Amino acid sequence: MLSLETRLGRAVFRNPVFGASGCTGHGYELAGYTDLSRFGAVSLKTFTPAPRAGNPPERIAEVPAGVLNSIGLQNPGKDAFFAQTMPRVLAALERDQIVVSVGGDTIEDYVALCRETEARFGGRIAALELNAACPNVSHGAGFYSRDPQAARELVQAVREAVVLPVFLKFNTNFPNYLEVAAAVEAAGADALYTTNTPLGMKIDLHRRRPALGNGRGPICGPAIRPIGVLRTWELYEAVRLPIIASGGIRTWEDAVEYLLAGACAVGVGSAQFVQPDAASDILSGLERYAAAEGLECLTPLVGAAHP
Ligand SMILES: Cc1cc2nc3c(=O)[nH]c(=O)nc-3n(C[C@H](O)[C@H](O)[C@H](O)COP(=O)(O)O)c2cc1C
Repeated sequence: MLSLETRLGRAVFRNPVFGASGCTGHGYELAGYTDLSRFGAVSLKTFTPAPRAGNPPERIAEVPAGVLNSIGLQNPGKDAFFAQTMPRVLAALERDQIVVSVGGDTIEDYVALCRETEARFGGRIAALELNAACPNVSHGAGFYSRDPQAARELVQAVREAVVLPVFLKFNTNFPNYLEVAAAVEAAGADALYTTNTPLGMKIDLHRRRPALGNGRGPICGPAIRPIGVLRTWELYEAVRLPIIASGGIRTWEDAVEYLLAGACAVGVGSAQFVQPDAASDILSGLERYAAAEGLECLTPLVGAAHP
């Protein structure tokens, strides 16, 4: 009997196909388009202590094999998130599917948000995700992706403050990302959540100006998948922490490729902009593949491409 149950540190999920933060809304927005119970988890859109308007429009530009975005962590801030967003999330998703993504400028910001999230919703959510991946803000989040010491202090401080499982989402697009990963492991994170979005630009030929209001923005989508697979491969060899990988996953074959490279779970991001039920479809493909291979779980696939 096939079980896709996925353990990431102390957190257990029904399956390894997650909706990635910022591309899945808060889950409930997709209720009319997909069966929400199929998500292994939804990483909610990152929220921050105070409301953020984000970067100036345009904030999305299509490019070959992907999309540039420069949202800039737009969100309503913690008070509206707790009062208005969370009740709707709790009504739409089960406890084991809810991963709350937290952003901030300082370690104190992250600690305070995680503490308050746990105090209010601790028994009703699965895990906390620290967004240290956003390249669209000039300070704060991205900083913890490039400085091993800062990443270690961030995770340690949050681990001491809460009992919920803690994931660190970081950007592997920096030369020292393996050092950052080792620091995060030493600090006691439950899992590493990766993205590898490099910055890009598109020029609007009619206006003769950059298409994005912010000029530049990270590239998401299939264009970055081979890079993500390599980073996953290298992380698998460097750390023992479970890896949740995002970067260009559109099909179940893409998900299997990431598992074979070493991921335990995958985050489906911008694929949902063109196919809102992409995660469910990917899960169906994984189920069929596992059955055809005679597998009872996906564990034998994780890292199986390594010699
Ligand atoms: C429009 C947009 C908004 C995003 N917002 C967030 C966010 O708030 N927090 C976060 O951790 N990642 C955010 N991301 C990154 C995605 O979660 C994901 O890691 C990235 O898009 C790579 O996956 P993909 O290639 O499948 O899109 C965002 C991505 C896009 C395209």
